[in-house]
Amino acid sequence: MTEGSGARGQGSGVLSDRTRASIAALVALYPERRTALLPALKMAQAEVGYLPPEVIAETADLVGVPHSAALELAVFYTMLHTEPGPETRVVVCAQLPCALRGAEGLIRDLRSGLATRIADGSLEVERTSECFGACHRAPMARVGEVYRENLDATARQQLIGELSGSTNGRTH
Ligand code: FES
Repeated sequence: MTEGSGARGQGSGVLSDRTRASIAALVALYPERRTALLPALKMAQAEVGYLPPEVIAETADLVGVPHSAALELAVFYTMLHTEPGPETRVVVCAQLPCALRGAEGLIRDLRSGLATRIADGSLEVERTSECFGACHRAPMARVGEVYRENLDATARQQLIGELSGSTNGRTH
């Protein structure tokens, strides 16, 4: 990977025009372009599914930071993925408000109820310490890009039932 020299806007990258425009709009919101890097990488990942080197480089160029800065963040930050993931990624928030409302039990139940899909590699249940901003509806999990909240015993069994037969993890 080479170092980017800034927002070159090559126009022939992997990202769609829509995502490129969204990142450009995001960058314009911040006095420091670098501040937009994390949300920009999240946007890129939401489109592509993960962050291969060419997408990291393209995002860095759009934000106007060196490729190395984007790569460092992509590797460091647990919610960014530089390798292709499973078909369905379930991320449970384990920050304090969710922890107090049973996040660990939720993780245990999901891993147990979805053991077959976890075993065949089509689904992962991850824990994160990143608050998703849905504390008032704890405990919660993000299934792909969809928030599933108030996951009490009944709701989590419903979720397990949906994901047991899911082929793409979309639950909306
Ligand atoms: S602590 Fe879990 S969403 Fe905020």
